[in-house]
Amino acid sequence: MKISYGFITGAAFCLAIAGPVMAQSTAHGAALFSAECSACHSATPGENGVGPSLAGIYGMRAAMVPGYKYSLALRQSHIVWTTDALESFLANPAVDVAGTAMPHPGTEMHMAMPSAIDRGDIIAYLRTLRQ
Ligand code: HEC
Repeated sequence: MKISYGFITGAAFCLAIAGPVMAQSTAHGAALFSAECSACHSATPGENGVGPSLAGIYGMRAAMVPGYKYSLALRQSHIVWTTDALESFLANPAVDVAGTAMPHPGTEMHMAMPSAIDRGDIIAYLRTLRQ
């Protein structure tokens, strides 16, 4: 009885610690999104602006948001927006999508995010957006 009580207390303690830490990075991602992405991207489904809505973008194939006119480069990129793909796109958008010789509007608009922590937090936030 004592052992299982200790286990439950330990598990509850871990959850109490993990909760705020995860919430914090998502909250930081939301703040970054509003500062660095929201001028061009909405988090609301169906609201395209300069860039496509990013609602539900996590796990989607690139250039698939309905009603948005993408560059040829992104349409031909065959990217699926997994954590790794977003990580490498945000770290160096021009190289990642445009290849070398093909500059195009989308990637020229994207600034590289040098901080891996910021990229991780933005991706954590993007994962929370539903279509
Ligand atoms: C100045 C405008 C602008 C800003 C700021 C911007 N984007 Fe974009 N983004 C675009 C455009 C335009 C496209 C479409 C690119 C294309 O068609 O090649 C795009 C495309 C994307 C895509 C691919 C969408 C898809 O449907 O495949 C992702 C992911 C993305 N942006 C994430 C971000 C994130 C995250 C930020 C903030 C860190 C950001 N963008 C900031 C303009 C912008």
